[in-house]
Amino acid sequence: MQLLESLDQARLDAVFGQSLLLTQDWSVEELDTIRDLARVLAEFDRQGLKAPLCEHELAWAVFFDQSTRTKSAWAGAASRLGMHPVIVDGSSTQVSHGETAIETGAMLGMNAHAMGIRHDLILGEGNTFIRDIKKGIDDYLDATDDSRRVPIVNLQCDIDHPTQSMADLLWMEENFGDLAGKKIAMTWAYSPSYAKPLSVPQGIITLMTRFGADVTLAHPPGYQLMDECVSAAESNAGGGGSFRVVDDMDEAFQDADIVYPKSWGAYDLMLERVDANAAGDKAEMANIEQKALERNAMHTDWICDERRMGLTSGGDALYMHCLPADIGAEVTPGVMSKHTVNVAREANWKVYVVMALLAGGKVPDLKSALHTLANEAQDQI
Ligand code: CP
Repeated sequence: MQLLESLDQARLDAVFGQSLLLTQDWSVEELDTIRDLARVLAEFDRQGLKAPLCEHELAWAVFFDQSTRTKSAWAGAASRLGMHPVIVDGSSTQVSHGETAIETGAMLGMNAHAMGIRHDLILGEGNTFIRDIKKGIDDYLDATDDSRRVPIVNLQCDIDHPTQSMADLLWMEENFGDLAGKKIAMTWAYSPSYAKPLSVPQGIITLMTRFGADVTLAHPPGYQLMDECVSAAESNAGGGGSFRVVDDMDEAFQDADIVYPKSWGAYDLMLERVDANAAGDKAEMANIEQKALERNAMHTDWICDERRMGLTSGGDALYMHCLPADIGAEVTPGVMSKHTVNVAREANWKVYVVMALLAGGKVPDLKSALHTLANEAQDQI
C-alpha cells in the first residue's frame, strides 16, 4: 500500500505517547504525521483490512455535553483498533458531587488505556479540566511505575475541537490537495437553537492558517472569539497563509473556495455563563441562554443561502459544517441538500483521526505493525 510506505517511523516515534489537547501544542510536522496515519487507516478500512493494534484495551470517553458524531467516531475508532469503547455521561460521574478532575483522572487512569473528554460549555474551564485529568492519570502511572501509554484526546473543549479540525483538514485536502492559497470563510451564522461553543471556529482559524490557507473570520459585532485564538491565528498566518477578521458575511464569502458558516454564542454572554455556572445558578444559566437566543435573533440575515454561495469561487465553494446544522437558520435547505453527502464525508474523517491519535500514541514501531497486518491479510487472500 503506497500510503503505508510513505509513513516515516521516526515521525511516528515523535507522536508516540502524546496526548492531543490543542492543535497549537503540536508542531505542523506532528499534525502531518497524524493526518498521514489517518489516511492509511482509512485506506485499511476501504480495503477491508483489520487493524487490531490495541486488542482488549479500554478506551474511556467522558462527555459533559451532548454529542452524536464524536461519540460515534470514538466508538468506531476504538472498536476498529480492537479496544473496548466505554462512553460515560459526565453528569453521571462523581464530578457532579465535587470530585476533582485530578482525582477523577487517577481513578479512570488506574485501568484505562486511552481517555477522551468533551468539556466545552464553560469558557476557561474545559481545557483546564482535561489537563487536570491528564495530570491525575500521569501521576498515577508514574507513582506505580506503570508503563501503559494512556493518550488523552480532547473531544471538544472551550478552546479547541482538535479531532474536528483535523477531520476538516483531511476533508479539505481530499477536495483541494494543498491548502496554500485556498480561501476559507469561517463565518458566524444565525441559530435559534442554543448558544453554541466557540471551539469549532477557534479550531479552524488556528489550524488552517498553519496549513497555508487564506482564512477570513466573519461575525457580527459582539461575537468575537477568545483573544488567544485570534492571536494564534494571526501569528500562524506568518508561515504562509493569511488571516483577517471582518463583520460582513458577504465579504467573507466573496471568491471563497470553502465556506464554513456556523453559529456560536455572543462573547459577553459566554463570559456571564462562567459566573452563573460557578455559582450553580441554574435559573441564571437559563436566563443567559434566553438572552443569547434573543441576541442571535438580531442577525437572522447571517444565513448561508444560494445568493451568498453565488459570491464564492465559481459560485460553487465547498460548504462545510461540523454538524448538527440548524437548517433554515444557519443554512438554507437548498444549500444543505446539495452538500448532504459532503458533510457526512467530512464527519467520517473523525473516525480515522481518533484512530490515528490512539494508535500513534500507543503502538511502538507502528509502521512495522501495520505492515504485518497488511501482509497477513494478503496471505489470506
Ligand atoms: N461535530 C461534532 O462534534 O458533532 P457532535 O457534537 O455530534 O459530536
